[in-house]
Amino acid sequence: MHILPIASGKGGVGKSVIAANLSLAIAEAGKRVVLADLDLGGSNIHTILGLRSVERGLGTFLSGRKLKFDDILIQTGYDGLKFIPGDAEIPEIADLKSYQMKRLIRNLTSLDTDYLILDLGAGTHRNALDFFLISGRGIIVTNPTLTAILNAYLFLKNSVFRLMGSAFPKQSPASRYILSLKKEGRLLQRIYIPQLLSKIKEEDRDSYDAFTVLEKKFRPTLILNMIDDPDDAEKIEKLRRSTREYLNVELEHLGIIYRDDLQDIALSSRLPIIKYKPDSIISQAIYRIADKILQKEGETEDTLEITTPEESYQVAEMEAETDFQVRMQNLEELLHFGTLTTGDLVETIRSQHFELQHLKKENQLLKTKLVRAASDGFKV
Ligand SMILES: Nc1ncnc2c1ncn2[C@@H]1O[C@H](COP(=O)(O)OP(=O)(O)O)[C@@H](O)[C@H]1O
Ligand SMILES: [Mg+2]
Repeated sequence: MHILPIASGKGGVGKSVIAANLSLAIAEAGKRVVLADLDLGGSNIHTILGLRSVERGLGTFLSGRKLKFDDILIQTGYDGLKFIPGDAEIPEIADLKSYQMKRLIRNLTSLDTDYLILDLGAGTHRNALDFFLISGRGIIVTNPTLTAILNAYLFLKNSVFRLMGSAFPKQSPASRYILSLKKEGRLLQRIYIPQLLSKIKEEDRDSYDAFTVLEKKFRPTLILNMIDDPDDAEKIEKLRRSTREYLNVELEHLGIIYRDDLQDIALSSRLPIIKYKPDSIISQAIYRIADKILQKEGETEDTLEITTPEESYQVAEMEAETDFQVRMQNLEELLHFGTLTTGDLVETIRSQHFELQHLKKENQLLKTKLVRAASDGFKV
């Protein structure tokens, strides 16, 4: 079975549209495909496929009621394509307990299918990383905006740290070293991975070797979605170079997809775009990417089989203030190539500030609500 998790650092980049249409394109090529909606908080795959809302999905399954995994596997009406809905019974995949994660991953990887495609929620929380790292062949979707590219970079950086977490045995010198960096807070975020690895190679060869086994299998790919003009395609080169240089990861490019208003028309017609207008540029781009994926079939498929480490080495939590600083530091890594323009920077700083303001407001609102709820409670 080929497993293709589809992730992004930032939401709204087109993951679900791509997951649904790629699944369909691969099914049209005669493969058996199962598509799972793992964005439990923001499930929308059923809408993109034009299915009516579903009664039960992963949430129902995980809530412990007596359902077999097969009971939530539904026919889509498209030959060869089955679908596992998310459903809203569990608010966020981020909240899944580790036994639920294990149960879910075990059931998913035991399915009898040629392709398993996973649509993940945005962000770098641990569960998204764990789903992404089920396979060494995960797909990162990004847009050409600097914020989206930066978030894609952060996602990959966190993936590499997550792999270290899995490779280094507890109590090993390597593991202790990382934890000591972690205690010093910011240090871990600033870490230059190649340098860190060469230090670990010197001082803890076994841990280093265990990591390189995983690292070799980690061959994520990239889709650049919603570009407006050909120049946008170049923006991704910074990401690929930084990923190679700073993370020691070769990011293969699967293809670009133009922004096209047809997508929204297809959505309101309740048809996937490749069914709505198979000849459109956007549909052809999706078929091209599907072909590339199918051509890779001969290559050995690698499941990573990562284990859950005691402590997360995650460097970039998607959280307000710290996040802002973390991102600015990572921006430096992208900046070293000198290809960022002043315009890029202004755009990033502006959008980061905007996001930060927004989060602060939300936070304030929550606090007010809490205080009100608490004082109401006291009155009663
Ligand atoms: N290439 C594209 N051109 C135009 N609109 C797109 C394109 N890709 C996605 N969209 C639209 O962008 C929005 C976000 O897409 P979605 O797949 O839900 O993102 P994500 O799953 O990453 O959050 C949707 O309204 C979708 O129809
Ligand atoms: Mg989505």
